[in-house]
Amino acid sequence: MARVAIVTGGTRGIGEAISLALKDLGVTVAANYAGNVEKAQAFTERTGIQAYQWDVGDFDACAQGVARVAAELGPIDIVVNNAGVTRDGTILKMDREMWEDVIRINLGGCFNMAHAAFPGMRDRKWGRIVNIGSINGQAGQYGQVNYAAAKSGIHGFTKALAQEGARFGVTVNAIAPGYIDTDMVAAVPADVLDKIVARIPVGRLGQASEIARGVAFLCSEEAGFVTGSTLSINGGQHMY
Ligand SMILES: NC(=O)c1ccc[n+]([C@@H]2O[C@H](COP(=O)([O-])OP(=O)(O)OC[C@H]3O[C@@H](n4cnc5c(N)ncnc54)[C@H](OP(=O)(O)O)[C@@H]3O)[C@@H](O)[C@H]2O)c1
Repeated sequence: MARVAIVTGGTRGIGEAISLALKDLGVTVAANYAGNVEKAQAFTERTGIQAYQWDVGDFDACAQGVARVAAELGPIDIVVNNAGVTRDGTILKMDREMWEDVIRINLGGCFNMAHAAFPGMRDRKWGRIVNIGSINGQAGQYGQVNYAAAKSGIHGFTKALAQEGARFGVTVNAIAPGYIDTDMVAAVPADVLDKIVARIPVGRLGQASEIARGVAFLCSEEAGFVTGSTLSINGGQHMY
């Protein structure tokens, strides 16, 4: 039987590339998204991968979403916690809502999804959880105390849950992407982006497919001895 994966935020950007990379491995993929129905429908038409709408920041919605995917596609073997948002601003301009949104979705989403999917993986003695962190969770970033805190939290979450899963064949790893050419980075002003690219030793933005290759490896049968690790894919921008 094919493995079943849920990729959160799996209908565009890095998540789309991850959904496709897992499909190429023979995995049955469910791609979750938040609200961009038009992009999700176009994604399903293009790829044949089913899309499921729920908010990963909502604990109950994640439990229901995981149950629905399991009922329709089979028990969940792989969760890729990729969904993420930015609400940037220096701390003086960051209101409580900007802080709470990013913590709730980016970090809370990992907890909510793992809480729903981990018990089944543990019972079946096989599972893969991959959490998408960020270079900015490793190194910090001006104007992103919310995002850097959430992403840094993801790296700690990964190492703690890896210890709980190891005995049961459930690996938990993180990927820390550098700057990748997606809608999220397109929102950065051009002059700021030029300065960022100038600091990347490889001399360019990364491609979503380059993150997806890392995820596909961590989700493979062969990666069973890799757990609690963070793979940095950042063009040499931050060597951690
Ligand atoms: N791009 C980069 O340079 C970069 C660098 C480091 C880390 N990352 C991380 O990589 C991940 C993907 O980034 P990206 O650039 O591909 O982002 P993106 O192009 O903005 O896509 C974000 C995806 O997440 C989904 N999403 C957002 N909030 C959600 C929620 N509450 N519930 C469910 N899904 C939600 C979106 O759904 P809708 O389509 O419905 O809005 C979309 O599918 C994020 O965690 C991001 O922080 C990105």
